[in-house]
Amino acid sequence: MPTPHISAQPGDFAPAVLMPGDPKRAQRMAETVLDQARLVTDVRGTLGFTGRLAQAGPHQGQPLSIMASGMGMASIGIYATELFRFYDVERIIRVGTAGGISPQVEVGHRVIAVGAHSASSMNELRLPGVHFAASADLTMAAAAWALARAEEAAGAEPEAVTWAGAVVTNDHFYFAVPGQLEALERHHVLAVEMETASLYAVAAEFGRAALSVLTVSDHLTRPDPQMSADQRETSFQGALRLALAAAFA
Ligand code: HPA
Repeated sequence: MPTPHISAQPGDFAPAVLMPGDPKRAQRMAETVLDQARLVTDVRGTLGFTGRLAQAGPHQGQPLSIMASGMGMASIGIYATELFRFYDVERIIRVGTAGGISPQVEVGHRVIAVGAHSASSMNELRLPGVHFAASADLTMAAAAWALARAEEAAGAEPEAVTWAGAVVTNDHFYFAVPGQLEALERHHVLAVEMETASLYAVAAEFGRAALSVLTVSDHLTRPDPQMSADQRETSFQGALRLALAAAFA
């Protein structure tokens, strides 16, 4: 039965769902990654597609879904909950962007979010008296990491540089808590974004798997130039390769 936020029928989603934030990105991904892509939900313009993996290789032809998450912990929390609860989805892989924090992490690099710090009350409410440790699925993280290392060893483009570690998931895009950025940098947090801690917590609630593979699109502590449209696309394709490795791990 369709849910309040997803108009798909039972069975419309594949076991693995790739989740960019932006619905237009979800549509472009579906057009390039999937064969026989069909729109399965469009409530609020949050587009979701299911098809079969087009890419030649051992997983070609396997079912795969791509659906947008919207922005922020609340939005991704709603979609992830409904996908796990009502559509028997097993794995969600967020393919998003993040702002770099660690000075070693450059614009265009990829980040595999092993864990996600957050000050959001959403996760604080889950375990009374305990700070929630939002963590990635190890099988998917290991598959993404293995491919990243193989690409680095093969001398792929600099965009293939990949970091694995902690990110911070913030509720605010524009408001900065004084002193927080410096503290995050001192604790070697790689990047900031707005969804991962919620996705990982919902996956924990349902005993399912989640991973975020992020492209660093801007930087908070380095003067890196903005990415060109071409760089953006190349970096995104790099993150997508890791996400696909995770989806079929
Ligand atoms: N902050 C939060 N989320 C983001 C950023 C940022 O700087 N860049 C991309 N997603």
